[in-house]
Amino acid sequence: MRVLIRKDYEEMSKTAAKIVADLIRRKPNCVLGLATGSTPIGMYEELIRMHKEEGLDFSQVVTFNLDEYYGLPPDHPQSYRYFMDEHLFKHINIKPENTHVPDGTVPIDRIDEYCRRYEEMIKEAGGIDLQVLGIGRDGHIAFNEPGSSLSSRTRLVALDEQTRKDNSRFFKSIDEVPRAAITMGVGTILEARCCMLLASGEGKAEVVAKAIEGPVTSQITASALQLHPNVIVILDEAAASKLERKDYYLYTERMFEELGKPLV
Ligand code: F6R
Repeated sequence: MRVLIRKDYEEMSKTAAKIVADLIRRKPNCVLGLATGSTPIGMYEELIRMHKEEGLDFSQVVTFNLDEYYGLPPDHPQSYRYFMDEHLFKHINIKPENTHVPDGTVPIDRIDEYCRRYEEMIKEAGGIDLQVLGIGRDGHIAFNEPGSSLSSRTRLVALDEQTRKDNSRFFKSIDEVPRAAITMGVGTILEARCCMLLASGEGKAEVVAKAIEGPVTSQITASALQLHPNVIVILDEAAASKLERKDYYLYTERMFEELGKPLV
């Protein structure tokens, strides 16, 4: 794991956006795995700026989102499709047909087939080159709540109470937060060629330390990233504050810089 520690949220977001932009410039038809939530918003803002000011071209980029609330239609202001349109897609030159967010309105008797098809579409697109991830306070990646199999696939899941509470800040009340979601599985995520986990703020410090430095466990599904050969973790100082090996990560970054070898 390459752990990059940045001064604050803005620097974390800029580093993340640069990694995405470098990939798009190297491989214009790359496949990005995208996340919603508060954490990647700054990265999306920086990508929009790069598109507008530097001509970063999304015309051949294909995207797959990690998850969607079950029961919310795409035009619901709290749906993840709506979020992606508002925070990224409508500001860049991506083709709408190249963007994929799981459909939260699939009838329940067709959900398993739909989830299988979502995975097939990822494969048909050539697989995910770079998967952007946030981490929940219970250690989830996507909506893989504690106890999810580390080989799980895209499926319907029940949302944990902690997750519903955390996400209720976007709804009028917790009762409005959906109880289920469609999510890529941990196994699906681990198939991406590269995973990039972002976390910011003190509230994430404890779980970040567990995910990066603790044992691999289905109780903290982000810890499964330790098994992946190509993971970049980008943290602000607050989110990095409980890491035991923090000095080593900082030293590694300095050392690579001195050697003139890009860390990522
Ligand atoms: C969002 C997702 C979630 C979030 C996580 C952190 O698509 O899959 O796992 O990344 O809940 O959310 P924030 O960034 O709001 O703290």
